[in-house]
Amino acid sequence: MSEPKPASEFKPPIPLRATTPESWAEAAWEDPEGLLSDHAHNEKKAALTALSLVHAFSGHPRIPLLLARLAEEELNHFRRVLEALADFGWSLRRDGGSAYAKGLLAHVGEGGSDPLLDRLLVSTLIEARSCERLHLLEKAARNRGVLSDPAWLSFLFELERCEAGHALTYLRIAEDRFGARVPDRLDAWLDWEAEVIRGLPHRSVVH
Ligand SMILES: [Fe+2]
Ligand SMILES: [Fe+2]
Repeated sequence: MSEPKPASEFKPPIPLRATTPESWAEAAWEDPEGLLSDHAHNEKKAALTALSLVHAFSGHPRIPLLLARLAEEELNHFRRVLEALADFGWSLRRDGGSAYAKGLLAHVGEGGSDPLLDRLLVSTLIEARSCERLHLLEKAARNRGVLSDPAWLSFLFELERCEAGHALTYLRIAEDRFGARVPDRLDAWLDWEAEVIRGLPHRSVVH
């Protein structure tokens, strides 16, 4: 298994407007079982989100396939996070819900925007934020020497890179369907996302 790449190579897939402080990862690792449970639920919901978007692209030659691949990757992540929980001797806790997703979804359709465009941009931002935070978790785990087994760090790095790819996939799907409407709407969403994430407490959840 290859070693995770150095943190200095990290580049966010989308220029998020609120940078998560490194102290966030320290707080998140306080309860690793809770953190992994939350992330397992995130992966499951990410798979369901991708599948739920397929119907909007009936007749398109390529996008349903992109979404199916994305859902398959998320389901693979879900299973592997569950396996990691089991390997550590932990159990999946109940889904506590996501104040982050709820805060974002409150803006869907705001100002008369197409809800499909907004859902694609919400997914873009959730994936990009997951990527940023998985990177911080990987870095903190390595620095703390806790949960720093190379195979585990490689898994975190793989997740981080996959979520970056998913952010770009959702953005490209939005551009394919909505073209020139995307930049202005993404600009609004970047502000809303920064406001929502800044308003959340630092605890053992990914968002
Ligand atoms: Fe994932
Ligand atoms: Fe993802």
